[in-house]
Amino acid sequence: MNYIIPSLARVTVNSTAGLVGRPSIEVDGTSFALNGRNVSYRFHVDAQTGDIILTHFGGPVTEDPVQDPSANGGGWSTQMHLRREFPDLGRGDFRTPAVRIKQSQGHTVSGFRYKSHQVVAGKPPLPGLPCTFGGADKEEEGVETLVLHLWDECSSVAADLAYSVFPEHDAVVRSVSITNRGSGPITVEKLASLSVDLPHDEYEMLQLQGEWSRECTRTRRKVDYGLQGFGSTTGYSSHYNNPFLSLVSPDTTESHGDAWGFSLVYSGSFLVEVEKSPQGLTRALIGMNPSQLSWPLGPGETLVSPECVSIFSSAGIGAMSRKFHRLYRRNLIRSRFVNETRPVLLNSWEGLHCDFDGDTIYKLAQESADLGARLFVLDDGWFGDRYPRVDDRAGLGDWTVNPRRFPDGLRSLVDRINKLKVAGSDQPLQFGLWFEPEMISKKSVLYEEHPEWVLHAGEYPRSETRQQLVLNAALPEVQDFIIRSVANILDTVPVTYVKWDNNRGMHESPAPENHHAYMLGMYRVFEELTTRFPNVLWEGCASGGGRFDAGILQYFPQSWTSDNTDALDRVHIQFGTSLVYPCSSMGAHVSAVPNEVTGRVTPIRFRAHVAMMGGSFGLELDPSRIPAEDKARIPDLIRLAEKINPIVIRGDFWRLNLPESSNYPSALFISEDGREAVLFAFQIRATTVHNFPLLKLQGLDPRATYRLDGERTLSGATLMNGGVQLRFGTDYDSKVLLLERVD
Ligand SMILES: *[C@@H]1O[C@H](CO)[C@@H](O)[C@H](O)[C@H]1NC(C)=O
Ligand SMILES: *[C@@H]1O[C@H](CO)[C@@H](O)[C@H](O)[C@H]1NC(C)=O
Repeated sequence: MNYIIPSLARVTVNSTAGLVGRPSIEVDGTSFALNGRNVSYRFHVDAQTGDIILTHFGGPVTEDPVQDPSANGGGWSTQMHLRREFPDLGRGDFRTPAVRIKQSQGHTVSGFRYKSHQVVAGKPPLPGLPCTFGGADKEEEGVETLVLHLWDECSSVAADLAYSVFPEHDAVVRSVSITNRGSGPITVEKLASLSVDLPHDEYEMLQLQGEWSRECTRTRRKVDYGLQGFGSTTGYSSHYNNPFLSLVSPDTTESHGDAWGFSLVYSGSFLVEVEKSPQGLTRALIGMNPSQLSWPLGPGETLVSPECVSIFSSAGIGAMSRKFHRLYRRNLIRSRFVNETRPVLLNSWEGLHCDFDGDTIYKLAQESADLGARLFVLDDGWFGDRYPRVDDRAGLGDWTVNPRRFPDGLRSLVDRINKLKVAGSDQPLQFGLWFEPEMISKKSVLYEEHPEWVLHAGEYPRSETRQQLVLNAALPEVQDFIIRSVANILDTVPVTYVKWDNNRGMHESPAPENHHAYMLGMYRVFEELTTRFPNVLWEGCASGGGRFDAGILQYFPQSWTSDNTDALDRVHIQFGTSLVYPCSSMGAHVSAVPNEVTGRVTPIRFRAHVAMMGGSFGLELDPSRIPAEDKARIPDLIRLAEKINPIVIRGDFWRLNLPESSNYPSALFISEDGREAVLFAFQIRATTVHNFPLLKLQGLDPRATYRLDGERTLSGATLMNGGVQLRFGTDYDSKVLLLERVD
């Protein structure tokens, strides 16, 4: 037997609480350990090849697992048995590589060897890219970074692998940068942010796939021999697939078992690859989509990849999600609104579409205030002069107020709206506005003046979708134009909320690398605008959830989850989205029935209860056109939404029953201090002659006493092990119950 002897210094382990008290980065020569509270990530440098070899990524360990090289089989290629942290190409690893560089000599072989490393307090920001950060006050709080410097001797290319550990969150964040130190140009054709090789075992992969109006459908499948994966080539993260992958053991559930989550902090096209090798190892890669990269690097130039957040949980998928939520709320979302209760809003879109003038808008604002909404949002249709935006055929790009719809200007209308008082308070009604600044209509002054600003490829026709084209945000003059156009309005009209929409995919990119350049351009735009207007609540939107990703969260604390406001579909979409993104970041509205997308009719209470699970609760309807008895219920529903919103925004989310597998989907929010909780329980279909199930809560303190909905008091143990039986009536029935810790 030829055991590899564990090499790191001994540490004390508190076996129940994980590895508390242990340094988050341990270095012993060229062996490295990254320690979270309940996770260990360990690798070392292979002395012969200079390759970085992973030995463990999972629950806490104090040394490398006992490994016997002779137990790795023989076979045709020795490299195939290695767990490589940065698999390069062309030297005998026949699995999918993390990096592919077209060298100046024309070939795509590379060979990176460890050269040196560095431990850095805190986490240096990624230039031009969104990224997680340390404490809000002290950047070095709660995070430490290890940088491995790798070097390719034959091509003079350097690669830096940066690993940051957030021990509180069991998170390891990685990004990679490539620098050309040679004298000729090279092209980076592929650069995965994360590459990880898990040992021989059975795994399943969880992903969020979908379409417009069907975002974030949770899908689970077996990881089988060969290559499987998903991604986006739309130019954005897309409705089709979310830039998130989870690998789980076959027996992992919401509350038990191993779960690894990988979330890419990026809003552009991406690729996820999962390959089970013939030898049984599973490689996972996630990064920018290589089919749209081909990034040229001249001598001295660097390409930095977006970062990927990896989180491990041994306590099921739900625990993994909660770790993502906490990390993203504290260490990713920069907005000052991240912890704040969001104003209940009424959005004009589903009520009026593009069909309004100043008077109809004022009337709708008045009704909003009367119902108790705090923010009125004017959606599409307010702009364009020579080519007014009165339908979706014209006007995008001309961000001037339509003088015929608003003869006294928008400012004077908003001043009147701000004089309206929200029902039951002396607060003024706030005003929010819709933009779609990355887009342009052919019928617009901007297109007449700058046809060259539109994405186009030579003589190919510029294909239109929704009668609009995409501006090329890779161009600095386009970025400046967008910043100027939006800032002009925000400087002159008292807007407290912006909905930033983006309604089509990219066609006819002038070059593959333009896709990433576009995203870098938009990140500059988002950074500048959100920094200049920090008191605006920014909401992202892309035909619903077409750009709902960790990258956008850096700038916009919330995004519109889906254009589909059907409450039943929303249970699926919101539960799916919560796999990685905090509920605080979801916009969720009550709209009229029959629903515009599905035609389904559900009770207003069900619609409202579902929407209350999102951080930004709102109405998207014309109150004068809904049944009087529904309208009469709205003020109470708004009051309930406002009451529980602080717990939704800041609390931990426990999915109790999943809509895919239960007629009684349910979820619990628990405040971080454990003193308050809100239980959401739904019945989809009425069933006859069944006992109603006992709903077992989770996440409470078994020894504490809780008051359930202002009435009975019960122990946490009873609530979790015994449960609560709820009686439902008709189809789409729902309950929202409050729990209060009383001891
Ligand atoms: C830590 O891991 C143990 C099992 O290894 C598990 O029982 C516990 O719930 C985990 N704690 C957290 C916070 O994930
Ligand atoms: C939000 O709250 C968390 C604690 O829950 C805190 O760490 C973070 O700094 C707060 N962020 C802001 C912007 O207030």
